[in-house]
Amino acid sequence: MTKIIRVLEDISVVDEAAEALAKGKLVALPTETVYGLGANALDEEAISHIFLAKGRPQDNPLIVHISHKDMLKRVVKSVPEAAEKLMDAFWPGPLTIILEKSDEIPTCVTAGLDTVAVRMPRHPVALRLIEKSGVPVAAPSANISGRPSTTRAAHVIEDLSGKVDYILDGGACQVGLESTVLDMTGAVPQILRPGGVSLEALKQILGKVTYEPALKDSREVPKSPGMKYRHYAPKGELVLVDADLGDRVQTLLADSQKAGEKVGVLCCGDRDYGADFVINCGGDAETYAQNLFDALRQMDELGATFIVAELPKDSGGIVPALKNRMLKAAGGRVMTDAEGSRTELV
Ligand code: TXA
Ligand code: MG
Repeated sequence: MTKIIRVLEDISVVDEAAEALAKGKLVALPTETVYGLGANALDEEAISHIFLAKGRPQDNPLIVHISHKDMLKRVVKSVPEAAEKLMDAFWPGPLTIILEKSDEIPTCVTAGLDTVAVRMPRHPVALRLIEKSGVPVAAPSANISGRPSTTRAAHVIEDLSGKVDYILDGGACQVGLESTVLDMTGAVPQILRPGGVSLEALKQILGKVTYEPALKDSREVPKSPGMKYRHYAPKGELVLVDADLGDRVQTLLADSQKAGEKVGVLCCGDRDYGADFVINCGGDAETYAQNLFDALRQMDELGATFIVAELPKDSGGIVPALKNRMLKAAGGRVMTDAEGSRTELV
């Protein structure tokens, strides 16, 4: 049975779930990025239940969440100076840092790697849960593997009800996309997954930072195990379009409707292209990021079989993360302009 706890003013209602988590139970929790599916990171059996509940491939490592820097010594071998600076600048917040793992973290958490991903989330419910449980909390995004991540408690209930012990409802997630995953174990810090902390912001602290090659070129094998899987996909076929392709999109959708498709549009302006279902995800990239996963899930509920999503017009900040998730959700399908020019991946 799954117990759902709505957290309003009195945050102490999460303490019951914290106690259960410490004893091996699964607890879905809100973070500022997306909802997570949490378990005691030191308990191998609890970790195996995360993989089962999500249907997650065993070779995809989990992020370990902490509420205080004191907990780091149980998770990582050491903290290099540059990593310390990042923690001071961005924690609590949407930055996951990859460091050498401690002996105490079981290898099932890291999928056999000798590195571990660690982050301190910013959401008060997540911080209280970790603090009160007294253990580092391993948590992947709280969705069935392959589906869009969950940014509202209702999404978590849809995917994981009956499979987890607690769902903590802390409202809608503020960022809406997962954290930036940054590998600090190599000579030059490398972004393995773009997210809530931008390349520009990281450069201000570190100087040199690069995107790992597979983010720029889809023929490269990704360094982060999770980035090789098809992800975030709605049930209908999804194609990305540039907003200035207006009339061609309208024609594409009209043809699809004639062929019997139920067509949906995710837009960031006010064009509806004559679609059956239209969701305006907001004019700026931050709002689009907050709404993307919810909009993809809504398209499933509406029964859209063919969906086009307008790419954001701006660049920098959250945009590389937004485009990365959109491209993955669309399996790389992008409608190009007349010259056939390719959309920048990041
Ligand atoms: O915002 C987030 O990061 C959310 C919330 C819940 O914190 N969590 C999340 O977890 O997105 P998940 O499991 O869906 O994604 C974790 C990503 C995967 O791509 C995984 O392969 C990568 O981090 N990862 C974890 N440990 C790693 C490691 N040691 N080396 C390389 N990549 C790693
Ligand atoms: Mg995920």
